[in-house]
Formats: sequence, structure tokens, C-alpha cells
Amino acid sequence: MSIINMEVSTFSDLSVVTPKAEPFIKWAGGKQALLAQILPHFPKSFERYYEPFIGGGSVFFALNHHKAFVNDENEWLIDTYKAIRDNYVGVVRELDKLTNTREDFLRIRAIDPRSISLEKRAAQFIYLNKTCFRGLFRVNKKGQFNVPYGEYQRRYYAVENLAAAANALKKVEFTVGDFEKCLIGITSNDFVYFDPPYFKLGGYSDFNRYTAGQFREAEHLRLASLCNELDAEGIRWAVSNSDTPFIREIFKGFRFENIKARREINLKSQDRNVNELLILNY
Ligand SMILES: C[S@@+](CC[C@H](N)C(=O)[O-])C[C@H]1O[C@@H](n2cnc3c(N)ncnc32)[C@H](O)[C@@H]1O
Repeated sequence: MSIINMEVSTFSDLSVVTPKAEPFIKWAGGKQALLAQILPHFPKSFERYYEPFIGGGSVFFALNHHKAFVNDENEWLIDTYKAIRDNYVGVVRELDKLTNTREDFLRIRAIDPRSISLEKRAAQFIYLNKTCFRGLFRVNKKGQFNVPYGEYQRRYYAVENLAAAANALKKVEFTVGDFEKCLIGITSNDFVYFDPPYFKLGGYSDFNRYTAGQFREAEHLRLASLCNELDAEGIRWAVSNSDTPFIREIFKGFRFENIKARREINLKSQDRNVNELLILNY
């Protein structure tokens, strides 16, 4: 046996030899392009990693921490992560059955995700994300997905990446719901990264919605007050948001790092050059 083979075969943690996963969905506000600016500000070591607004998971996958608590208000998204973790091969089989035409898109979009198996639900989610207009996620008041067809010919998945994602997701405990309720049991040895829907200058369009709920001034204030409570308990956190007077005001007293943003998914050109902040309490 060669030395290389010996070393590999003695690793107990497979993540050491498996490539890191990347997000397998396109997600508004995704941080993939900003990782090199964000990650160096994270603490060098901590026990457990919390991410209450997981979205496409770019920061989570890049960090690949050994123990993570992941939350989002979007239940369909969290179900998709669970399906990939438990049976990515089954999800791939379902995805391979879905053809990319306008008629099929409309038929698949109309299926109630709660009426089908976990694997089919995840395949439906990934399929809609890859074939709908700009990969947006928007639902109506009844929770029905209503983004129009996008007319793209892109592949739905890369199997090696889904395998790596399944591996990373095995270290996760998932919750679905509001960010305030997912930090139960957190201690001062842990670290939280909050990446909420951004505070917007100039109003909110429907395309800023990820769930049937809304994230507006009141929610940003709620997040700032939670951050103050965590700070008082000595728990370290980082928050991403837009660099606006409102955000600077509600996080007054904490450290601000400038992040140069490049927005891809925003429709309004006035939003494209707004810089971002990483707010830190350590
Ligand atoms: C900016 S995205 C996160 C992007 C993610 N960091 C990435 O790189 O893809 C914000 C996420 O917050 C979720 N969300 C919206 N309101 C929420 C709430 N009140 N509690 C928890 N999650 C919420 C949305 O579903 C969305 O996935």
C-alpha cells in the first residue's frame, strides 16, 4: 500500500478527503462571490456553528464546520436539504425524470409539494430553481410557487457536488421557522452568522420575498435586539446587511466591516451598487 493510500484509509473524518460542496441552488442574496471577504472575519475557533437564515448555504458549505445548527423559514428549502442528506441518489433519479419545457414547467409547478414524497419534493424544488425566471423563489399568499418559466437550458445538478453536500449536511441539526426560535441551547463557546433578507432602500418588491412572510423594518429591529441579548451573554455573532443609515443606527456600538458587493439577482439597477456591511460583536 502506498503512503498516500495509507493516509487516506486511516482518516476517520471523510470530509478531509471529500471535496467541499458548493450551493446546489441559485438563491437571492447568495454569498458565494463574497466568501473571501466574509470568512476571514469569523472567529478562529468555536464549538458549534449556527446559521438561522441558511438560504443557498454558501457560507455553511464553505465553512464545513463539524457541528452546525441550520434554520430557515422556508420549509420546502429545509426539506430539500434533508432529502439530499438522506438520499441524494433518490433525488437525482427524480430530477432525471423532469423535462425542461414550458408545459412541463407549468405542470410541475402546479403540484402541491406537500402531496409528494420527500425525494420528489426536493427534485421539484431544485427543478423549479433551475428552470424558473432568474432562479427566484416567490410564493403567493397561499404558499403556491408562482415564478414564471425562465427558458434556460442549464443542468439541474452536478452529482459530485450533491454527494459532497450530502456529506456536509450530515453534521447538521435542522429547524424550520423564525430566526428567533432556533438558538435554544446556544452557549458562549458557539458562533452565529445571520444573513437575513437585506434592508432595502427605496421599498420592497415582490421579488424580495422568499416565503409567504415579509422581512421589513420590524424584523430588522427584532434581529438587532436579539443580537444585543446574545452580546450580553458573551455569544459571538456576525450579521450581513446592506450599508444603509438604518442598519448602522440599529447596530450602533458594534464593529462594521465594509464588504464590496456584486449583486446579480436584483432587478433594480439602483440596488446593484449598494455596499454591504459585516457587523461583528467581537
Ligand atoms: C439572504 S438569504 C440567505 C442567503 C444565504 N446566506 C446564501 O448564501 O444563500 C435570507 C434567507 O432568510 C430566510 N428568511 C426570511 N425570513 C426569515 C425569518 N423570519 N426567519 C428565518 N429565516 C427567514 C429566507 O427564506 C432566505 O432563505
